[in-house]
Amino acid sequence: MTPTPSQAAATMTAMLDCPGCRLDGAWCTVHPMSMPVLACLILAAQPLHTDRLAHSRGVGEAMRSLVVPAENAGLLTSSTADLWMAAALLHDVGYARPGSGHHAVDGARYLRALGAPAPLVAMVAWHSTAPYEVAARGLEVDLAAEFGRPSPLGAAALWVADFTTSPHGRQISVEERLAEIRCRYPADSPVLAALDASQGDLAASFALVAAQLSPASSTAAA
Ligand SMILES: [Fe+2]
Repeated sequence: MTPTPSQAAATMTAMLDCPGCRLDGAWCTVHPMSMPVLACLILAAQPLHTDRLAHSRGVGEAMRSLVVPAENAGLLTSSTADLWMAAALLHDVGYARPGSGHHAVDGARYLRALGAPAPLVAMVAWHSTAPYEVAARGLEVDLAAEFGRPSPLGAAALWVADFTTSPHGRQISVEERLAEIRCRYPADSPVLAALDASQGDLAASFALVAAQLSPASSTAAA
């Protein structure tokens, strides 16, 4: 059952008062909670617009449709699947914590301050077109120096999940997603500059996910 925002906020407050939750490298060794469940709680506690919450949960659903078959086929460990699910749910959390000029940086800094593991922080910092948009906006942020780099396959899976989910959380094609982004922003927006600059990497991400996370392709290769 999805917690209400006040239930989620109360749980988060209890966890942040817990010394175990502040341990470096392990999000919480005291509260027995999986990373995706914790991510759901953190997401539900944010002052995010309803659409942004629906999109985030939709990206979580899209990621689940990628990781469950891959995990069942032995292509992914359960801990990696949990990490990617948490990153999908929390990738846009920075919209609730503005500060740097780009939501990916804000979200990564917020999660790092909560004590989130470095691989999760890196996935949020680098998600989708974030590196291109940081450059297009001229922000003085060095993503690699500040957050390290996510695994290429994890970053590709998150990009695919994000770009096959509508702003309202519905599963759509990547072509529909690109078209709706182009409709939402003016032609001179850094969002569209980043989108244009990232097209090659976006295509490569879809290809990587198809090649390495699809049980059918692993069966064919075997
Ligand atoms: Fe997104």
